[in-house]
Amino acid sequence: MSLHASKKFMIHPVSRIIKAVAITSFLFSVPSAYANEGARAPGMDKATMMKMQKVMKSDMALMKPDLQKQVKGLSKQTKMALMNILSTHTRRSKQLTLRQVMHEVLSDYQSITTGLVTDNNEQAADAARRLANHRLPLGGLLPYMAKGDINDDRLASLVGFNDLVEGNALRLAAAADKGNTGEATMYLGKIAEGCVACHQVFRGQPGVSNRLR
Ligand code: HEC
Repeated sequence: MSLHASKKFMIHPVSRIIKAVAITSFLFSVPSAYANEGARAPGMDKATMMKMQKVMKSDMALMKPDLQKQVKGLSKQTKMALMNILSTHTRRSKQLTLRQVMHEVLSDYQSITTGLVTDNNEQAADAARRLANHRLPLGGLLPYMAKGDINDDRLASLVGFNDLVEGNALRLAAAADKGNTGEATMYLGKIAEGCVACHQVFRGQPGVSNRLR
């Protein structure tokens, strides 16, 4: 992974989350269903937040004790940010892995491109909304992250990556709905930036062989 590149990508997301977190922790403080802490994320009403806490709790029940312990140790801010991301997703799978979900996401990205380059704004908009509301894998995102990535520092960048991908997918869909193919096409690059940035931090090169010297 190129540290240089990922740093460049992380500047905005991190400052944005710090700002959001500072504002929210100041404004809201409500009891959480787990770990005795929590606050309402920006734009999240109480009912949604309680629902998200339930989702996080059920995800945690699926985790092995060492991951459970890591997740419990995350700061209130990180948990809030995770709940915020969760709250934008209505599709959850009971068996899919993150890799499988990523393949779906890639297919949707390709379908957006097909729609845009073939004057089919309807295809582009539908695929973009599907991408933004991609399925969540079994147990949520965290079980598929490396052990060393489950901490406040590393996870702080998630919010920014999420907005780069999903925020811009929704912006793309809105532009395509209006028939603004040119504007919609500009968002393709921003979405790809989000894919690349997240992979640089949380993924690295796929399929590296351990049978090579
Ligand atoms: C929140 C961070 C994040 C974002 C944003 C993200 N990915 Fe991923 N992606 C991952 C992680 C983590 C993996 C590795 C998962 C694993 O191996 O279990 C991955 C793996 C993949 C894979 C490889 C799957 C395999 O079989 O190894 C593809 C393809 C992929 N992502 C496509 C995309 C595309 C396209 C986008 C943007 C539209 C995107 N990803 C955005 C985190 C992200």
